[in-house]
Amino acid sequence: MKTVAILSQKGGAGKTTIALNLSVAASLNKKKSVIIDIDPQTSITQWGDSRNKENPTVISVPASRLSNTLNVCLNNKVDFVFIDTAPHAEQSSLMAARQADLIIIPCRPSVIDIRAIQSTIDICKIAEVKYFIVLNQVLPRSNLTHDTLEALKALQIPTVPVNIGQRISYINSVTQGQGVMEFDPRGKSYQEINNLYKFVVKQVKSKS
Ligand SMILES: Nc1ncnc2c1ncn2[C@@H]1O[C@H](COP(=O)(O)OP(=O)(O)O)[C@@H](O)[C@H]1O
Ligand SMILES: [Mg+2]
Repeated sequence: MKTVAILSQKGGAGKTTIALNLSVAASLNKKKSVIIDIDPQTSITQWGDSRNKENPTVISVPASRLSNTLNVCLNNKVDFVFIDTAPHAEQSSLMAARQADLIIIPCRPSVIDIRAIQSTIDICKIAEVKYFIVLNQVLPRSNLTHDTLEALKALQIPTVPVNIGQRISYINSVTQGQGVMEFDPRGKSYQEINNLYKFVVKQVKSKS
């Protein structure tokens, strides 16, 4: 079983969007996939309720039950667990980080957002878990994307080789209780999430 935590101390960065779409990608690749929702807002659990499907299974628990819930997943031969976390919650984010094989940090391409991710990176470093930033809500033909990636490179912050665009399919799919790969199989968002999923698989496989 591999565990991926989606972390950002910033609200609205795209944690829930990335977590649910990665879990759907795993399920479409015939993996038994679980989302553990430790955000008291339970956004992803509400999405899970609306879809009425078993894979991914969505479980809402307080962070204090995370370790126990992961053991249940292990006993049930789950392939992938994605942990969706709350913003402004250092303690619970650290608990999630410590349980993860890999951490994905969504971040919008702006100076304000880059400055705000430092506290999230500190959590990853304390937990000693490999982490990558994924740029989310990227606008087409914007210099901002290039400039943001350059700034992250200069700061030696690792990024995934896939950017997630700002697309209406990421919003409308949630309304339908779906991920973008189910909602729009021919869309650009399908390719983005598929590529992000492949990258995640490669990283967790190479983990020593
Ligand atoms: N790539 C995207 N394209 C369009 N809208 C997005 C995208 N990613 C996130 N959103 C929207 O931005 C808002 C915040 O995203 P969300 O995933 O809930 O962030 P977080 O969980 O980090 O608070 C939501 O309304 C979501 O639908
Ligand atoms: Mg969220």
